[in-house]
Amino acid sequence: MHDSIRFSPDFTWGVATSAYQVEGAFDADGKGPSIWDSFSHNAANIKDGSNGDVACDHYHRYREDVGIMAGLGVDAYRFSMAWSRVQPLGHGAWNEKGFDFYARLLDALQEKGIAPHLTLYHWDLPQGLQDAGGWLARDTAFRFGDYAQEVARRFGDRLASIATHNEPWCTANLGYGNAQFAPGVSDARQALQVSHHLLLSHGLAMGAMRSVASQAALGIVLNQWTSDPATGSTADRALAELEWARSVQWFMDPIFKGRYPELALRAHGADAPQVNAGDFDIIRQPLDFLGVNYYFRHFASAETPPRTAPCALGTTDMGWEIYPQGLTELLLKLKGEYALPPIYITENGMASADTVDGGQVTDTDRISFVRQHLAALQAAIDAGVDVRGYFLWSLLDNFEWNSGYAKRFGIVHVDYATQQRTPKASALWYRDFVAAQRGQRHAA
Ligand code: FCB
Repeated sequence: MHDSIRFSPDFTWGVATSAYQVEGAFDADGKGPSIWDSFSHNAANIKDGSNGDVACDHYHRYREDVGIMAGLGVDAYRFSMAWSRVQPLGHGAWNEKGFDFYARLLDALQEKGIAPHLTLYHWDLPQGLQDAGGWLARDTAFRFGDYAQEVARRFGDRLASIATHNEPWCTANLGYGNAQFAPGVSDARQALQVSHHLLLSHGLAMGAMRSVASQAALGIVLNQWTSDPATGSTADRALAELEWARSVQWFMDPIFKGRYPELALRAHGADAPQVNAGDFDIIRQPLDFLGVNYYFRHFASAETPPRTAPCALGTTDMGWEIYPQGLTELLLKLKGEYALPPIYITENGMASADTVDGGQVTDTDRISFVRQHLAALQAAIDAGVDVRGYFLWSLLDNFEWNSGYAKRFGIVHVDYATQQRTPKASALWYRDFVAAQRGQRHAA
């Protein structure tokens, strides 16, 4: 069953989560509130009225969860740090008890030989910084640099990698563009200024972390998609090109080329962000790796109403088109446009309406989703893209942001009433898949 997919023996196989989505313990041991605590405590913001106060209670059950990972035989775990756990206000005093939690987690991972890949910011800004203007305030970027430096100083030598941001596109566009995510602002101009401050904060953090020499590879995680014109019409093609510029190039160009893409800048007009002299010198810094999160493609239609994607392979429980070949196309397009560092697929996976039946979850749809995407990934590697690892989203069912607990992305089912973990069929499949790759590793 696994025969046709063969990755390099040293390819990294992992699973991913993020702090707010799994940890719970939202006010334990001196943790300060984050914007996701504030946002989700207004039940109207979350589709099922839930919040992340308890989530998967990973803060208390991390040992069990690391044990599950060890049972799956994965090489690596990607997780994020809750900034307000280690620095309650986002500036000023550090919270030792918060750092202690991550030290214990690192100990548990080390015991099992699982490589830790940390993300510094997966959307949960300390509320203390939000009160001072959040990402709209330029100063927040400097506070992020301080936080990054402290984490690298303390943990850099214990981490395989540190990513500054997870999906700054979402922070800017869902947090400030359409109010779907914390802090719940809907203002196109603010969203663009926020995107600039996020990029600036990435650059400041990279510099600050480089100044503290450590072994960790440093980079950023971006969510990306190809943009396909719905038809061959000039209007559809122009729209597809614009979408590529506004989403992918908007974040990639500053980092790799030291400028914003012209096409997008023209489209944004007066909404374009305020950029200070020297900002691009800070933002454009060599990365040790680029993390790419891939879920779906963009389908560009200029018609009214717009044409929708054909969804030949169906859609997920999120309503997202299943489109594995988009991953191959995306990676090849990136390679064509940028001088890329090694790439990790830092997220890929799907939501499905899983239920436990006789102690089992038969998520065959997820198995075929992952399998198809791995085949697509292999095609990109065969075509010359340097991809070093793959992190399945997610280890656990968890708090899926404004969808609450209704959307299940885990390869391990979580019963939120009992916190019972049940590995789904996909988890067992992934375990066997990784073992098969490893068999080849030993033979190699
Ligand atoms: C990504 C997020 C991750 C999760 C998946 C489904 O955009 O980074 O936290 O919500 O989508």
